[in-house]
Amino acid sequence: MKDFIAVSDYSSDEIQGLLDLAIDLKKEYFSSGNRPFFKGRVLGMIFQKPSLRTRVSFDMAMRQGGGDALYLSPSEIGLGKRESIADVARVLSGYVQILMARVFEHAHVVELAKWAEVPVINGLSDYNHPCQGMADAMTIQEAFGKSRGLNVSYVGDGNNVAVSLMHVCAKLGWNFSIGSPQGYDLQPAAVKLAQEIAAQTGTRLHFARDPHEAVRGAQVIYTDTWTSMGQEEETAKREKVFPPYQVNSELLRGADRDVIVMHCLPAHRNHELTDEVADGPHSRIFPQAHNRLHAQKAILARLLGVA
Ligand code: CP
Ligand code: NVA
Repeated sequence: MKDFIAVSDYSSDEIQGLLDLAIDLKKEYFSSGNRPFFKGRVLGMIFQKPSLRTRVSFDMAMRQGGGDALYLSPSEIGLGKRESIADVARVLSGYVQILMARVFEHAHVVELAKWAEVPVINGLSDYNHPCQGMADAMTIQEAFGKSRGLNVSYVGDGNNVAVSLMHVCAKLGWNFSIGSPQGYDLQPAAVKLAQEIAAQTGTRLHFARDPHEAVRGAQVIYTDTWTSMGQEEETAKREKVFPPYQVNSELLRGADRDVIVMHCLPAHRNHELTDEVADGPHSRIFPQAHNRLHAQKAILARLLGVA
C-alpha cells in the first residue's frame, strides 16, 4: 500500500502489524532510544485546518527518527485554490520523501495521493481520521490486550473520528456501539463498509439514540467535540442538541466497572466531557494523545519501507 488514507484500506493483520510495531517503538523510546530510520527523509505536512497533536507528533516522530518535517500552513499552499492539488502533489514529490495532509474534503487527500509520487498520509479529513484511529486502537490494546469481543462505545456526533474508530474496531474484532442524536448519524457509506468488515471478523455493530443504551457493558467509552472544524456556524444549534450525550460520571455508571474513557482532543470541557471524568481514574485521554507519536512512527516507517 503506497498511502495511508483509511484504516479500512488495510487488512486486520496489517493493522495489527502496525500496532505491534508502534508498541515496540514506544518501548524503544522509553529505553534503548529511537531507531534512526528516518535519516535523510523529510515529511511535508500540509495543513488546511489547525492542529496541536497531529502537527507536533508527526514533526517529533520524524526528528526522533533522525529525519525532518516541514510545516506548510493553509495560507501558504492554498490547496486547490492557489494551485491545483495535482500540481501541488507533483511539485512536492520532488522535494520531500513523504507527505501528510489535513484537509476539509476527503476527496482532496485522495486526489493528493493519486498524483503524488511519494506516500501520502491522511492527517484528518471531513470523512475520517485514520492516524487517530490507530493511536486509539493502540491505547485500547495497552489497557485490555488483544482480546476480541471488547465493547467499544462512542457517544456523540457521528463524525470523522467515529468513522475511523468504528472501522478499526471492526477490523480488530471489537464490538462497536454508537449513541448519537437524530441528524448526527454516521455516514451511511461508512456504516455499510463497517458492516462488510464486521461480517468477516464477527464484530457486532449497534446504533442507538439513547447514550445509556450505547454504553451498557462498555469497556471503552469514547467521545469527541460536538462541533468539528469547518462546522463552526452550527455551534449554537449543536449546543442545544448534544447535552444529553455528555460523558459524565452518571453515564459511566452503566458501563463496565473497569471502563476507560477516551477523547481524541481537543476537548471542550464540561460540554462533551466533564472535568470530573476527563481528570478521573477512568480517563486515558493523555496516554491516548501521546500514542499518536508512536502509532504514526509505525505508519511512517512502513510507508517509507524502513521497518
Ligand atoms: N486529535 C487531533 O488530531 O488533534 P489536533 O487537531 O490537535 O491535531
Ligand atoms: N472531529 C474533530 C476532531 C479534531 C481532532 C474535528 O474534525 O474537528
